[in-house]
Amino acid sequence: MTKEAIYRIDGITKVYRTGEVEVHALRGVDLEIDSGEFIVLLGPSGSGKSTLVNILGGLDTATEGKVFFRDEEITGFGEGELTKYRRDHVGFVFQFYNLVPSLTATENVSLVTEIARDPMDPAEALEIAGLPRERHDHFPAQLSGGEQQRVAIARAIAKKPEVLLCDEPTGALDSKTGIRVLEALASVNKDLGTTVLVITHNAAVGKMADRVIHFADGQVARIDENETREAPASIAW
Ligand SMILES: Nc1ncnc2c1ncn2[C@@H]1O[C@H](COP(=O)(O)OP(=O)(O)OP(=O)(O)O)[C@@H](O)[C@H]1O
Ligand SMILES: [Mg+2]
Repeated sequence: MTKEAIYRIDGITKVYRTGEVEVHALRGVDLEIDSGEFIVLLGPSGSGKSTLVNILGGLDTATEGKVFFRDEEITGFGEGELTKYRRDHVGFVFQFYNLVPSLTATENVSLVTEIARDPMDPAEALEIAGLPRERHDHFPAQLSGGEQQRVAIARAIAKKPEVLLCDEPTGALDSKTGIRVLEALASVNKDLGTTVLVITHNAAVGKMADRVIHFADGQVARIDENETREAPASIAW
């Protein structure tokens, strides 16, 4: 199988300016991410993980440097192009699930499938994300945290994005539910070929990745490549 880069990141810096104060969140990041890879991003708080992922997802812009998504330079995009890029290509999963409380699991996913170009059936997305069928008509308040996160994953994958960006998706979950959520992410990667990036504070999650990118001080400190990927169930929290 030939590898094809989905992202090429070239000398990205990010400086946040608040009045007189400058924060250098990213200090020159170069990275290539292959299509279909499962990447785990680790690093201390404040090291720039979310900033990088937000720039890749078109939620934030870089101060300097270039990011290519396939052969398009997203760092050259205006607001409208970024919105279209996010809508067509990127799924997001955050620590807090942001479901609409008054809608069932199926209806939460339908919010996305109604406006996407070539969406999956909501039931199929929920199935891939691992929500049991008898739960599809439940409201968020009737679901556990892990089940709600699986609805959020279903919502993110239902439009068949090429990349799924996850910022601490298991951050609010205990180990057992966290593992179920990681299993959902692994099956999205395996069954749909979606490129998956997961930010986590749990170094053990790195065992399920193709590559683990260690961040420190706004830079890539080290990249570890795994010869074999472990199943989430074997990961100790
Ligand atoms: N909108 C913002 N305005 C000003 N500073 C910011 C902003 N967003 C992030 N920062 C700063 O940029 C640096 C990197 O933040 P970032 O959120 O990327 O870190 P992180 O690695 O995701 O940390 P955590 O593990 O705590 O989520 C931090 O010093 C942070 O305070
Ligand atoms: Mg963060």
